[in-house]
Amino acid sequence: MAKYVVAKVGDIAPGAQLAFKAGGRPIVVYNLDGEYFALLDKCPHQGAPLSSGVRSGLAGHDGPGRPCMKRQGEIVMCPNHGWEFDIRTGQSWFDPANTKVKTYFSEVASGNEVVKGPYKAETFEVSVDDNYIVVSV
Ligand code: FES
Repeated sequence: MAKYVVAKVGDIAPGAQLAFKAGGRPIVVYNLDGEYFALLDKCPHQGAPLSSGVRSGLAGHDGPGRPCMKRQGEIVMCPNHGWEFDIRTGQSWFDPANTKVKTYFSEVASGNEVVKGPYKAETFEVSVDDNYIVVSV
């Protein structure tokens, strides 16, 4: 296993990250409050660079009715499709097979049942007088 010098301690501030290539592979190192973790900078889904992703935490709670974020900055969201990865372990808990978007009731209705729109085009009276169409303005 080859070793690569990435940076000096202090070059990557707590909360910061550094993306680089080592052995031809893209890698990103994160500093989480003085602990360093490295991930392959390539999402296992379709290869987007995780170093371009937004970082957040895990949704939790401090008690009934008291939501909060825990482990702030330790979860990275892929910039392409939003899968999230734990920076400490690389683990994703995203489960595309069980992810669903909210659904709404829909039906087929006749035109008479739908709500009238707020706009109305101005209309004019039309009549036929012998062979002539007559519009009254
Ligand atoms: S490429 Fe990362 S979630 Fe799709």
